[in-house]
Amino acid sequence: MTIHIGAEPGQIAETVLLPGDPLRAEWAAQTFLKDPVCVNRVRGMLGFTGTWQGHRVTIHGSGMGMPSLSIYANELIRDYGVNTLIRIGSCGAMQESVELRDVIVAMTASSLSTPSSGIFRELNFSPCANYELLAAAVSSARTLKTKYHVGGIYSADVFYDERPDLNEIMTRHGILGVEMETAELYNLAARHGARALAVLTVSDHLLSHKSLSSEDRESSFGDMVQIALEAAFA
Ligand code: ADE
Repeated sequence: MTIHIGAEPGQIAETVLLPGDPLRAEWAAQTFLKDPVCVNRVRGMLGFTGTWQGHRVTIHGSGMGMPSLSIYANELIRDYGVNTLIRIGSCGAMQESVELRDVIVAMTASSLSTPSSGIFRELNFSPCANYELLAAAVSSARTLKTKYHVGGIYSADVFYDERPDLNEIMTRHGILGVEMETAELYNLAARHGARALAVLTVSDHLLSHKSLSSEDRESSFGDMVQIALEAAFA
């Protein structure tokens, strides 16, 4: 057991899907896994372990924002031996060509800062996805006929941004979407020799200001989970 995860040793699989929302972890586990067992509920951050097509997998909430994700990813990798981490979450679209419900496979994650900035100091480290997972996710999205995009995303520090010019700069540089976790997930995976990927569903649009209702969110998130599972065990 760790400070934030109550699972016994061995109760967490080597492959973990990380939605931000613990209730989405519960929904995904109940929808996609065989015999899911709740292995964590410390602070309401639910985690479930079960099997998918015979493979052991854990689906565990990460919370919102990089500091929260950093706690769970550190403990999962360092204390539970997790070697594959796939974020499944929502993002805001930053390009006209990206529409609500589209899936974004994040090749890189730009940021203003991350919890790792203190280590990197003057270095501008490039957090990037594991290529093997990324290629497998693209192949799965193609097979599922999901509308998908592959490219850079922006991991923001704040949801309520007082500097909209930052979003505009990201849009001008071809960044596909904004969320708040992936850059630190990729930093931590690089540091600890793990594989990481983020597969995101577009829940809102920064240019058109449209957004999915909460019912629409649930019904359109299934493809993202399926793509993440297929990529993990390709
Ligand atoms: N996650 C989903 N939509 C987002 C947005 N617009 N900004 C930051 N994180 C998000």
